[in-house]
Amino acid sequence: MVDKSGSRVRQMFGEIAGRYDLLNHLLSLNVDKYWRWWTVRQVPPTGDAPILDLCTGTGDLALAYLRASQGRVPIVAADFCHPMLAIGRQKGTRAAHAEQITFIEADAQHLPLPDDKFQIVCVAFGLRNVADTDRGLREMTRVCRPGGKVAVLEFSQPSWPPFRAFYGWYFRNVLPRIGQALARNRLDAYNYLPESVGEFPCGEALCERLRLAGLRDVKYHPLTFGIATLYVGTK
Ligand SMILES: C[S@@+](CC[C@H](N)C(=O)[O-])C[C@H]1O[C@@H](n2cnc3c(N)ncnc32)[C@H](O)[C@@H]1O
Repeated sequence: MVDKSGSRVRQMFGEIAGRYDLLNHLLSLNVDKYWRWWTVRQVPPTGDAPILDLCTGTGDLALAYLRASQGRVPIVAADFCHPMLAIGRQKGTRAAHAEQITFIEADAQHLPLPDDKFQIVCVAFGLRNVADTDRGLREMTRVCRPGGKVAVLEFSQPSWPPFRAFYGWYFRNVLPRIGQALARNRLDAYNYLPESVGEFPCGEALCERLRLAGLRDVKYHPLTFGIATLYVGTK
Protein backbone atom coordinates (compact mmCIF):
# COMPACT_ATOMS: atom_id res chain seq x y z
CA MET A 1 0.00 0.00 0.00
CA VAL A 2 1.28 3.46 -0.91
CA ASP A 3 1.91 5.74 2.09
CA LYS A 4 -0.62 8.57 1.75
CA SER A 5 -0.25 10.02 5.22
CA GLY A 6 -0.91 13.75 5.21
CA SER A 7 2.62 14.63 6.32
CA ARG A 8 4.23 12.55 3.56
CA VAL A 9 1.95 13.85 0.79
CA ARG A 10 2.30 17.45 1.96
CA GLN A 11 6.08 17.22 2.16
CA MET A 12 6.36 15.49 -1.21
CA PHE A 13 4.34 18.16 -3.04
CA GLY A 14 6.16 20.85 -1.06
CA GLU A 15 9.47 19.56 -2.42
CA ILE A 16 8.37 19.58 -6.07
CA ALA A 17 6.14 22.69 -5.95
CA GLY A 18 8.63 24.93 -7.79
CA ARG A 19 8.80 22.55 -10.76
CA TYR A 20 5.31 21.10 -10.60
CA ASP A 21 3.78 23.11 -13.46
CA LEU A 22 6.77 22.65 -15.76
CA LEU A 23 6.86 18.88 -15.17
CA ASN A 24 3.11 18.52 -15.53
CA HIS A 25 3.07 20.19 -18.92
CA LEU A 26 6.29 18.49 -20.08
CA LEU A 27 5.44 14.94 -19.02
CA SER A 28 1.90 15.15 -20.41
CA LEU A 29 3.00 17.04 -23.56
CA ASN A 30 0.55 19.78 -22.46
CA VAL A 31 -2.41 17.39 -22.64
CA ASP A 32 -3.13 18.14 -18.95
CA LYS A 33 -4.25 21.63 -20.02
CA TYR A 34 -6.75 20.09 -22.45
CA TRP A 35 -8.11 17.77 -19.71
CA ARG A 36 -8.84 20.72 -17.41
CA TRP A 37 -10.32 22.76 -20.27
CA TRP A 38 -12.56 19.82 -21.15
CA THR A 39 -13.65 19.44 -17.51
CA VAL A 40 -14.77 23.07 -17.44
CA ARG A 41 -16.66 22.54 -20.73
CA GLN A 42 -18.42 19.43 -19.41
CA VAL A 43 -19.23 20.97 -16.04
CA PRO A 44 -19.65 24.67 -16.84
CA PRO A 45 -20.37 27.44 -14.34
CA THR A 46 -23.98 28.64 -14.25
CA GLY A 47 -25.61 31.35 -12.13
CA ASP A 48 -23.62 33.12 -9.46
CA ALA A 49 -22.99 30.55 -6.70
CA PRO A 50 -19.32 29.94 -5.91
CA ILE A 51 -17.12 27.10 -7.17
CA LEU A 52 -14.67 25.11 -5.04
CA ASP A 53 -11.51 23.48 -6.43
CA LEU A 54 -10.05 21.01 -3.94
CA CYS A 55 -6.43 19.84 -3.91
CA THR A 56 -5.95 22.84 -6.16
CA GLY A 57 -2.13 22.65 -5.99
CA THR A 58 -0.86 25.52 -8.16
CA GLY A 59 -4.44 26.39 -9.05
CA ASP A 60 -4.76 25.43 -12.72
CA LEU A 61 -8.33 24.08 -12.58
CA ALA A 62 -9.47 26.96 -10.35
CA LEU A 63 -7.93 29.42 -12.82
CA ALA A 64 -9.62 27.63 -15.74
CA TYR A 65 -12.96 28.17 -13.94
CA LEU A 66 -12.06 31.82 -13.27
CA ARG A 67 -11.47 32.34 -17.02
CA ALA A 68 -14.61 30.44 -18.02
CA SER A 69 -16.83 32.42 -15.65
CA GLN A 70 -15.16 35.74 -16.60
CA GLY A 71 -15.19 36.84 -13.00
CA ARG A 72 -18.96 36.39 -12.51
CA VAL A 73 -18.51 33.63 -9.93
CA PRO A 74 -16.33 33.53 -6.79
CA ILE A 75 -13.79 30.71 -6.91
CA VAL A 76 -12.32 29.10 -3.79
CA ALA A 77 -9.13 27.09 -4.30
CA ALA A 78 -8.07 24.85 -1.39
CA ASP A 79 -5.00 22.73 -0.70
CA PHE A 80 -3.08 21.61 2.40
CA CYS A 81 0.39 22.15 0.93
CA HIS A 82 1.62 25.69 1.56
CA PRO A 83 4.34 25.86 -1.16
CA MET A 84 1.88 24.66 -3.87
CA LEU A 85 -0.71 27.22 -2.72
CA ALA A 86 1.88 30.01 -2.68
CA ILE A 87 2.54 29.42 -6.39
CA GLY A 88 -1.21 29.25 -7.07
CA ARG A 89 -1.73 32.55 -5.26
CA GLN A 90 0.98 34.24 -7.34
CA LYS A 91 -0.64 32.97 -10.54
CA GLY A 92 -4.03 34.14 -9.23
CA THR A 93 -2.82 37.71 -8.68
CA ARG A 94 -1.72 37.90 -12.34
CA ALA A 95 -5.04 36.56 -13.68
CA ALA A 96 -7.92 38.64 -15.03
CA HIS A 97 -10.63 39.00 -12.33
CA ALA A 98 -8.04 38.15 -9.65
CA GLU A 99 -10.36 39.59 -7.00
CA GLN A 100 -12.74 36.67 -7.54
CA ILE A 101 -10.31 33.90 -6.56
CA THR A 102 -9.38 33.01 -2.98
CA PHE A 103 -6.78 30.43 -1.99
CA ILE A 104 -7.27 28.71 1.38
CA GLU A 105 -5.12 26.20 3.24
CA ALA A 106 -7.37 23.26 4.11
CA ASP A 107 -7.43 19.48 4.31
CA ALA A 108 -9.93 17.96 1.85
CA GLN A 109 -11.04 15.57 4.60
CA HIS A 110 -12.07 18.34 7.02
CA LEU A 111 -13.17 21.37 5.05
CA PRO A 112 -13.67 24.57 7.06
CA LEU A 113 -16.62 25.40 4.79
CA PRO A 114 -20.42 25.35 5.26
CA ASP A 115 -22.85 22.77 3.88
CA ASP A 116 -24.68 23.28 0.56
CA LYS A 117 -22.64 26.26 -0.64
CA PHE A 118 -20.97 25.54 -3.98
CA GLN A 119 -22.54 25.02 -7.44
CA ILE A 120 -19.50 22.96 -8.50
CA VAL A 121 -16.99 21.13 -6.30
CA CYS A 122 -14.13 19.81 -8.39
CA VAL A 123 -10.78 18.11 -7.92
CA ALA A 124 -8.10 17.38 -10.53
CA PHE A 125 -5.46 14.72 -9.92
CA GLY A 126 -5.95 15.24 -6.19
CA LEU A 127 -8.49 12.72 -4.86
CA ARG A 128 -6.02 9.85 -5.40
CA ASN A 129 -3.68 11.52 -2.89
CA VAL A 130 -6.26 12.04 -0.16
CA ALA A 131 -5.64 9.43 2.54
CA ASP A 132 -9.34 8.58 2.98
CA THR A 133 -11.00 8.71 -0.46
CA ASP A 134 -14.54 8.23 0.87
CA ARG A 135 -14.16 10.90 3.47
CA GLY A 136 -12.88 13.30 0.80
CA LEU A 137 -15.87 12.48 -1.44
CA ARG A 138 -18.31 12.95 1.46
CA GLU A 139 -16.82 16.37 2.21
CA MET A 140 -17.09 17.34 -1.47
CA THR A 141 -20.74 16.29 -1.44
CA ARG A 142 -21.48 18.05 1.86
CA VAL A 143 -20.31 21.46 0.68
CA CYS A 144 -22.00 21.12 -2.75
CA ARG A 145 -25.44 22.69 -3.23
CA PRO A 146 -28.41 20.39 -3.80
CA GLY A 147 -28.58 20.09 -7.61
CA GLY A 148 -24.89 21.08 -7.89
CA LYS A 149 -22.14 19.02 -9.49
CA VAL A 150 -19.18 17.15 -8.07
CA ALA A 151 -16.43 16.62 -10.69
CA VAL A 152 -13.38 14.41 -10.24
CA LEU A 153 -10.63 14.42 -12.88
CA GLU A 154 -8.13 11.64 -12.20
CA PHE A 155 -5.58 9.39 -13.88
CA SER A 156 -6.96 5.99 -14.86
CA GLN A 157 -5.92 2.77 -16.57
CA PRO A 158 -6.32 2.77 -20.38
CA SER A 159 -8.65 -0.03 -21.45
CA TRP A 160 -7.31 -0.94 -24.95
CA PRO A 161 -4.74 -3.70 -24.20
CA PRO A 162 -1.93 -2.71 -26.64
CA PHE A 163 -2.03 0.92 -25.55
CA ARG A 164 -2.39 -0.11 -21.92
CA ALA A 165 0.82 -2.17 -22.20
CA PHE A 166 2.81 0.62 -23.88
CA TYR A 167 1.51 3.32 -21.56
CA GLY A 168 2.08 1.14 -18.47
CA TRP A 169 5.73 0.73 -19.50
CA TYR A 170 6.17 4.49 -20.10
CA PHE A 171 4.37 5.38 -16.87
CA ARG A 172 6.35 2.95 -14.69
CA ASN A 173 9.79 3.22 -16.30
CA VAL A 174 10.30 6.40 -18.30
CA LEU A 175 8.16 8.99 -16.56
CA PRO A 176 9.53 8.40 -13.01
CA ARG A 177 13.13 8.73 -14.28
CA ILE A 178 12.51 12.01 -16.11
CA GLY A 179 10.39 13.32 -13.24
CA GLN A 180 12.89 12.36 -10.58
CA ALA A 181 15.83 13.81 -12.51
CA LEU A 182 14.10 17.14 -13.06
CA ALA A 183 12.23 17.51 -9.77
CA ARG A 184 15.14 16.31 -7.60
CA ASN A 185 13.04 15.58 -4.52
CA ARG A 186 13.90 13.18 -1.74
CA LEU A 187 10.48 11.60 -1.42
CA ASP A 188 10.35 9.93 -4.80
CA ALA A 189 7.30 11.80 -6.05
CA TYR A 190 7.54 10.36 -9.56
CA ASN A 191 7.62 6.75 -8.33
CA TYR A 192 4.68 7.59 -6.08
CA LEU A 193 2.71 8.69 -9.17
CA PRO A 194 2.44 5.30 -10.97
CA GLU A 195 2.14 3.45 -7.65
CA SER A 196 -0.75 5.60 -6.45
CA VAL A 197 -2.52 5.46 -9.85
CA GLY A 198 -2.08 1.65 -9.94
CA GLU A 199 -3.95 1.12 -6.70
CA PHE A 200 -6.64 3.80 -7.13
CA PRO A 201 -10.11 2.71 -8.37
CA CYS A 202 -11.17 3.85 -11.82
CA GLY A 203 -14.20 3.60 -14.11
CA GLU A 204 -17.31 1.99 -12.58
CA ALA A 205 -15.47 1.28 -9.31
CA LEU A 206 -14.88 4.98 -8.66
CA CYS A 207 -18.42 5.84 -9.84
CA GLU A 208 -19.69 3.53 -7.10
CA ARG A 209 -17.68 5.46 -4.49
CA LEU A 210 -19.26 8.73 -5.70
CA ARG A 211 -22.71 7.13 -5.34
CA LEU A 212 -21.83 5.93 -1.83
CA ALA A 213 -20.94 9.54 -0.96
CA GLY A 214 -24.52 10.51 -1.81
CA LEU A 215 -24.29 11.59 -5.45
CA ARG A 216 -26.73 10.58 -8.20
CA ASP A 217 -26.61 10.43 -12.01
CA VAL A 218 -22.93 9.55 -11.77
CA LYS A 219 -21.21 9.24 -15.16
CA TYR A 220 -17.66 8.91 -16.33
CA HIS A 221 -15.88 10.04 -19.48
CA PRO A 222 -12.49 8.50 -20.36
CA LEU A 223 -10.06 10.98 -21.94
CA THR A 224 -7.08 10.40 -24.26
CA PHE A 225 -7.42 6.59 -24.53
CA GLY A 226 -8.36 6.40 -20.85
CA ILE A 227 -5.14 7.90 -19.42
CA ALA A 228 -7.40 10.22 -17.48
CA THR A 229 -11.11 10.06 -16.66
CA LEU A 230 -13.63 12.69 -15.67
CA TYR A 231 -16.31 11.56 -13.19
CA VAL A 232 -19.36 13.74 -12.63
CA GLY A 233 -22.19 13.32 -10.13
CA THR A 234 -25.11 15.48 -9.02
CA LYS A 235 -26.05 16.17 -5.40
C1 LIG B 1 -1.11 16.16 -8.21
S1 LIG B 1 -1.45 17.64 -7.36
C2 LIG B 1 -2.81 18.27 -8.29
C3 LIG B 1 -2.83 19.77 -8.34
C4 LIG B 1 -3.86 20.39 -9.26
N1 LIG B 1 -5.23 20.07 -8.87
C5 LIG B 1 -3.63 20.03 -10.70
O1 LIG B 1 -4.59 19.72 -11.41
O2 LIG B 1 -2.49 20.10 -11.15
C6 LIG B 1 -2.23 17.03 -5.89
C7 LIG B 1 -2.48 18.10 -4.85
O3 LIG B 1 -3.35 17.53 -3.86
C8 LIG B 1 -3.00 18.10 -2.62
N2 LIG B 1 -3.55 17.25 -1.55
C9 LIG B 1 -3.32 15.93 -1.35
N3 LIG B 1 -4.01 15.49 -0.29
C10 LIG B 1 -4.71 16.55 0.19
C11 LIG B 1 -5.62 16.74 1.26
N4 LIG B 1 -5.96 15.74 2.09
N5 LIG B 1 -6.16 17.97 1.45
C12 LIG B 1 -5.83 19.00 0.63
N6 LIG B 1 -4.95 18.90 -0.40
C13 LIG B 1 -4.41 17.68 -0.62
C14 LIG B 1 -1.48 18.14 -2.65
O4 LIG B 1 -0.96 19.04 -1.71
C15 LIG B 1 -1.23 18.58 -4.11
O5 LIG B 1 -1.13 19.97 -4.22
